[in-house]
Amino acid sequence: MNESKPDKSIRILAIESSCDETAAAVVADGRQVLSNVISSQIAVHREYGGVVPEIASRNHLLALTPVVEQALADAACTLDDIQAVAVSHGPGLAGALLVGVSYAKALAYARQLPLIAVHHWQGHVAAIEIEHRLEPPYLALVVSGSHSGLLLVGEQGGRLLGCSHDDAAGEAFDKIARALGLPYPGGPEIERAAAGGDAAYVDFPRAWLPDSDDFSFSGLKSAVLNYLHHREQLGDPPRADEIKHIAAAAQQAICDVLSWKAVLAARREGLKQIVLVGGVAANGCLRRMTAERAAEQGITVSYPAPVYCTDNAAMIGVAAYRQYAAGDFADMRLNACPRLPLPVLAAGGAAEQ
Ligand code: KG4
Ligand code: ZN
Repeated sequence: MNESKPDKSIRILAIESSCDETAAAVVADGRQVLSNVISSQIAVHREYGGVVPEIASRNHLLALTPVVEQALADAACTLDDIQAVAVSHGPGLAGALLVGVSYAKALAYARQLPLIAVHHWQGHVAAIEIEHRLEPPYLALVVSGSHSGLLLVGEQGGRLLGCSHDDAAGEAFDKIARALGLPYPGGPEIERAAAGGDAAYVDFPRAWLPDSDDFSFSGLKSAVLNYLHHREQLGDPPRADEIKHIAAAAQQAICDVLSWKAVLAARREGLKQIVLVGGVAANGCLRRMTAERAAEQGITVSYPAPVYCTDNAAMIGVAAYRQYAAGDFADMRLNACPRLPLPVLAAGGAAEQ
């Protein structure tokens, strides 16, 4: 193993390949993003209306080496300047994760560098630290294509307050967009389509799940599909000029539930800060609604820049730094864990096992 150099900055090469983004980043001292390279496969998967796991794995294989080389070049470093290799090892698509995990293990072994296994959610939560200086405790709403959850991030640790019973928020955006004839990924497409739309055009249901911090979005998805089918059965399918209204109504229904539940949970737990992270946190409607409702309760809301909301490796490098400092290293038995459970979170997103 290379000796860590406390007098010099610790540079971590981080890798992310859990879904359809092949990403690598170099992060110094857990804060400074020296490079952040993302090779997106969106154009490839768009043809199929969603991510095809086998195609994702093959594209990660093709993209990963050039992406890592670019991340090193952008950071003006070579592998000699790197003190550890970090990788997102779950949850995610098994084959996609395996590409990143195998690459990181091989690199760590060949260079005799410590290997750091990062939970993908912890990466999303850590993304807030790139541009914000937040003191725990705070509430994190983690919303992406594969997960929706409310986490209480505290000074000594953290806990999962609630998560989705069925579809994740991003999945709901993606499936509703598909039903509306909008391309993948659906979230940004719905947001674009909804601009200028009337959110009161259709009153879609909200699954409030009272007395619970859990979410459910499959009922909303069915309600949108039923609405569209019903219109077709009446011989009056939605006209092109109505899509913006239906998109606005669906977006409102998703953001209404996410923002209220986050604010209610924060108020109940006596928290003064909410952070929105994950791909859906890039949504302007969610940001506005949460900020307005939180302000009424004296709660502030922060979110990363959009590039750090959707999947990226910089967030993995930030989360990995705490694990580096704690000596929390993986060994060559590390495997991809598609359903990796959430470890107890320490302040700033680091794990307490
Ligand atoms: O975090 P992410 O890149 O990948 C996962 O970990 O799943 O999130 C991708 C999800 C997709 O479902 C996408 O539709 C959604 O984030 N998304 C958005 C927006 N940008 C991305 N949803 C709503 N509004 C957006 N602007
Ligand atoms: Zn993600």
